[in-house]
Amino acid sequence: MTSRFYNPVETRFGWGSLLELADITEHQSVALVTFPEARALGLVQRIEDLLGERLVYVIEDVQPNPDVAQLRNTYERFWREAGDCQVVVAVGGGSAIDTAKALIVGTETGSFDELLTLLATGQPFTPARSKVLIAAPTTAGTGSEVTPWATIWDSLSQKKYSLHLDCTWPKVAIIDPQLMLTVPASVTVSTGLDALSHALESIWNINGNAVSDTFAVAAIEDILECLPLLRHDLCNPELRSRMALAALKAGMAFSNTKTALAHSISYEMTLRYGLPHGIACSFTLPLVLGMAWGHDAARDRTLQRVFGTDVHHAQRQLREFLHNLDVKTEFTDYGVTAVEAEKMVQFAMQGARGKNFIGSQAA
Ligand SMILES: NC(=O)c1ccc[n+]([C@@H]2O[C@H](COP(=O)([O-])OP(=O)(O)OC[C@H]3O[C@@H](n4cnc5c(N)ncnc54)[C@H](O)[C@@H]3O)[C@@H](O)[C@H]2O)c1
Repeated sequence: MTSRFYNPVETRFGWGSLLELADITEHQSVALVTFPEARALGLVQRIEDLLGERLVYVIEDVQPNPDVAQLRNTYERFWREAGDCQVVVAVGGGSAIDTAKALIVGTETGSFDELLTLLATGQPFTPARSKVLIAAPTTAGTGSEVTPWATIWDSLSQKKYSLHLDCTWPKVAIIDPQLMLTVPASVTVSTGLDALSHALESIWNINGNAVSDTFAVAAIEDILECLPLLRHDLCNPELRSRMALAALKAGMAFSNTKTALAHSISYEMTLRYGLPHGIACSFTLPLVLGMAWGHDAARDRTLQRVFGTDVHHAQRQLREFLHNLDVKTEFTDYGVTAVEAEKMVQFAMQGARGKNFIGSQAA
């Protein structure tokens, strides 16, 4: 069978590569979207110095998990006050990048609810206007810099929307591991596990293929080795660089497959139980690994390249890895009863991402 792979993002990786932002955006007016700690860390000043007068607008109050409650105001203010800027640069974790993806999709009137109505249909649409997006991740996790998706949360209604249009692929991704030096230990672990989850989910996926597997296997091997070391050595440039590259590879892998069951389960765990995204989509990985095994010979072979041929040993290895990072791996650890957990897994199998799981075809 032919393997197909497509990723239109121009990708620049390397220590100090943020400097290239000035050339990349030459002659263009820029709006910056970043996270609240960025100013105190000196990052906003660095970007102001790099771009000078071309930096015309700054949004720096992006909260974790972009929620419609906050996004509505940010979106409408952005189009009212910075509607003329040419480029939006997101410098931050997945929350800043996904916020920027929502911002660049302009509705006719500049009303955010118009965008939500379009998103609620779940159908592709052509936005009335849009902007170019450049993404520089400051966490090693989401891979959002090389994917077209943005997750938009509605915690009040217990819903999530997935935004995905041609224009939401970033034009350029700048992966500068130096920006990740200040990420605290807990976020380093949860974002690293998000990347692990992307890589595994791209393998036990109906869209997985030889090309995406190449990225996924390399990412998993790096993360299994690197994340436990990095957690105790947060200022180590080499480990930060390896994790940044691993998260990029995982992002590349799932940019072509989308995610699967562990992510589908995670949405409810985040909305109902408040789990950080990286923990919510990784604590079930040993369980989902067991459910994936034996459905598809090609997918099994790829999993066996990483874990060997014994599924129980593979699950144990993954469970121990997570426990060593202080991540609990059972639903009951998070207050979900066995009956509720079973219902949640079955419900998640029917979700858009759950249907990508190779095991859900047989369920
Ligand atoms: N679009 C995609 O493909 C995709 C994939 C996975 C996850 N996501 C989304 O991404 C979001 C999570 O992103 P995340 O895990 O990167 O976390 P995040 O962006 O929410 O950041 C986590 C915390 O770390 C802080 N932070 C970020 N960078 C920092 C730095 N360099 N130094 C110090 N503090 C820093 C942030 O302010 C925040 O408090 C979720 O909303 C999730 O749904 C999107």
